[in-house]
Amino acid sequence: MSGQMETTLIPVLSPEEIAEIDAEISHVPYRSAVAIDALKIVQAHRGWVSDESLRAIARHLEMSAEELEGVATFYNLIFRRPVGDNVILLCNSISCWIKGCENLQAKITEQLGINLGETTPDNQFTLLPVTCLGACDKAPVMMVGDALHENVDAETLTKLFREGGE
Ligand code: FES
Repeated sequence: MSGQMETTLIPVLSPEEIAEIDAEISHVPYRSAVAIDALKIVQAHRGWVSDESLRAIARHLEMSAEELEGVATFYNLIFRRPVGDNVILLCNSISCWIKGCENLQAKITEQLGINLGETTPDNQFTLLPVTCLGACDKAPVMMVGDALHENVDAETLTKLFREGGE
């Protein structure tokens, strides 16, 4: 009985997640080298990485949860809280700032009713800040899901939100 209870307390990665993580591990000399990939894999399956998921990944990679937490915190595309179906990552580094990302942020807030770090009540969009996305010459820049949007203006936003982030 106590063994059973213990089992339910141990967070378990799904067989698919383990298979994908192990496939990454097979290419590297030590397990912890795939920390970011493993976090991304679990996030792709679950939408975000809970504390339980993080502990399960850490155990699988034979590293401490603290070490993995450090990686997850440093890599800001890993979500440690639940997010909406479409995550808007608005770049607020220098080039995008010069090109008016604050304005865009205000427009997003106006159109979707959310501030940075918030999710729309219908769970469709989460707005998060991100550091330079490497497309400074096309500033202001943001990502919605996997898609990079360059030279973003009010029109881009209206179109995007009308189409539900597609
Ligand atoms: S500063 Fe925004 S993409 Fe580089």
